[in-house]
Amino acid sequence: MAEIILDNIAHSYDSGATYALKKIDMTWEDGKAYALLGPSGCGKSTLLNIMSGIVKPSQGRIYIDGVDITDKPTEERNIAQVFQFPVLYDTMSVRKNLEFPLKNRKVPPAEIEKRVSEIARLLDIEDDLDIRPGKLRSDLQQIVSLGRGLVRSDVAAILFDEPLTVIDQNFKWTLRNRLKRLHIQTGLTLVYVTHDQTEALTFADKVLLMNDGEVVQTGSAEDLFLEPQHEFSGYFIGSPGMNFLDVELKDSVVSCEGQVLGKAGEAGMNGSYRLGVRPEFVLPGGTGGIMMTVQRVENRGGYQLLKLGLGSASVLSKVGTDVVVAVGDKVPFVFVPERTFLYEDKIMRSLVGPAGKVR
Ligand SMILES: Nc1ncnc2c1ncn2[C@@H]1O[C@H](COP(=O)(O)OP(=O)(O)O)[C@@H](O)[C@H]1O
Ligand SMILES: [Mg+2]
Repeated sequence: MAEIILDNIAHSYDSGATYALKKIDMTWEDGKAYALLGPSGCGKSTLLNIMSGIVKPSQGRIYIDGVDITDKPTEERNIAQVFQFPVLYDTMSVRKNLEFPLKNRKVPPAEIEKRVSEIARLLDIEDDLDIRPGKLRSDLQQIVSLGRGLVRSDVAAILFDEPLTVIDQNFKWTLRNRLKRLHIQTGLTLVYVTHDQTEALTFADKVLLMNDGEVVQTGSAEDLFLEPQHEFSGYFIGSPGMNFLDVELKDSVVSCEGQVLGKAGEAGMNGSYRLGVRPEFVLPGGTGGIMMTVQRVENRGGYQLLKLGLGSASVLSKVGTDVVVAVGDKVPFVFVPERTFLYEDKIMRSLVGPAGKVR
């Protein structure tokens, strides 16, 4: 069991010229499942490796249950880490692979046997103990690799770095569910790194969305979808992502290409902003709607994706198959209030709505 605190952590691989990880302050709560989500190169592995001790941060301290472990080597941190590729010795049986970390720590043989059978039962690999890992399916190899980390009796947290990367498509789902079940059974703090939003959103209690060395938003899957606090949350989450329009704000009136889109902001907020609205919240409207021209209609099975022109700008709209429109039609649409936002320097500043409710 562990609460992990990152206090003012940052990391540069090139003596401060660039930062792979910008300043991070956060607490990983005991027993929660977190997903660290973001595109390739945004610093996910760097953050994970700082927690496990593979990378020493250029700045800041790490505490596990109040103890400063910043200068402790990997072996002395009670953290198990699973990588993209299973880390196993193929010259040894699965059993010997599991025993190895304990033998290294001079744990008595009787205790080793007990731990290995406990872990094998927990991971459901009891029947595979006497074969070589190379003979196992890739998802089971990853499970054995996890077993090597878990076999220590003092493990407080498990870190997964894109563990489904080399897993056959058919078994990704099974492995993800096994990991989820394991989290429930062990109650360990779990951090799961992925660049795949579906993986992150189905797995975690809390998602940390990262971009360019920073955590841009922390919240539930729903928070990230419904209230993107940062333009990047709007863009990265959802399929397709959020629409953005360059808009002008004057005396609380938001306009784009000469059309009034709604009211937003507060006194003193004048000038150029970005309006963000997800395709799910651009819906056919009645009187008072924004007149837009249908430029494209795509039937995507359960829904239609429409491209709507607004002057020289355009937005995408996701509507049901019951909506009948054709290319060239000029039709009123609404941006759903409470789901339409104004961004300034990429950060959410205000709701956009007909009533100009200020956030
Ligand atoms: N060992 C390293 N030496 C130098 N630069 C690195 C090293 N590891 C990662 N980087 C750089 O740090 C940034 C973040 O990388 P990383 O943490 O691996 O991102 P992610 O896991 O999100 O793909 C990238 O620009 C990457 O090129
Ligand atoms: Mg990585």
